[in-house]
Amino acid sequence: MRKLAHLFESNANWSKKISKVDPEFFARLAHQQAPAYLWIGCADSRVPANQIVGVDPGELFVHRNVANVVVHSDLNCLSVVQFAVEVLEVKHIIVCGHYNCGGITAVMNHRELGLIDNWLSHLHDIRYQHRDRLEAIVDPQSRCDRLCELNVITQVSNVCRTTIVRDAWQRGQDLAVHGWIYDLSDGRLCDMKMCVTSTEEMETAYLAAIESTEGTDRILPPEIFAEQDYLSAASNTREKTPRT
Ligand code: CO
Repeated sequence: MRKLAHLFESNANWSKKISKVDPEFFARLAHQQAPAYLWIGCADSRVPANQIVGVDPGELFVHRNVANVVVHSDLNCLSVVQFAVEVLEVKHIIVCGHYNCGGITAVMNHRELGLIDNWLSHLHDIRYQHRDRLEAIVDPQSRCDRLCELNVITQVSNVCRTTIVRDAWQRGQDLAVHGWIYDLSDGRLCDMKMCVTSTEEMETAYLAAIESTEGTDRILPPEIFAEQDYLSAASNTREKTPRT
């Protein structure tokens, strides 16, 4: 119980199996990593980055947190992005959400889970921004699915707006930011069709991606959302979500 022997045994078998196929595999990886991709995904145990896209160790640089959120003041995430972009010089940043995300479900159902509610408040903001679109969806499951998609789109936008990515584009670095979503029910990835390769593309890509999700609310660029939310909050008594 203290040593978790079964996991060590499994690890030894895995190491032996790989070494048998490629005797130089670990020696090569120990020397250097040169991944072409940074993966930003959910911490959910059912969404293992490397396995989903079928790539070996060394091919993905990975950052995971609950609900794949990119916050502009999160030094952990920003450090990963900076190291990936400036040191490893990855060519692609993939933000991958997934349907049936526990974080999203908790937000949609106003479920309180403790400390993590502070982290999930970032998702509350997205839900609030798109409340008209979400409230127009009758089926609760579809509503959760839509918020999962809107979250991916928002986080791609957040990655694009980091100084790290903007600086990379400004100096002409070849870097694309992608938004994907994973379906737990069939193990398939879906491209959210939001791929951004420059600062100029950012707003158009964001608006097109939002528009491609189902719904009826007006489409406004991110900088207008803040003002819109502020104005709506003043007159909307249904919504109690605090704004900062
Ligand atoms: Co999740």
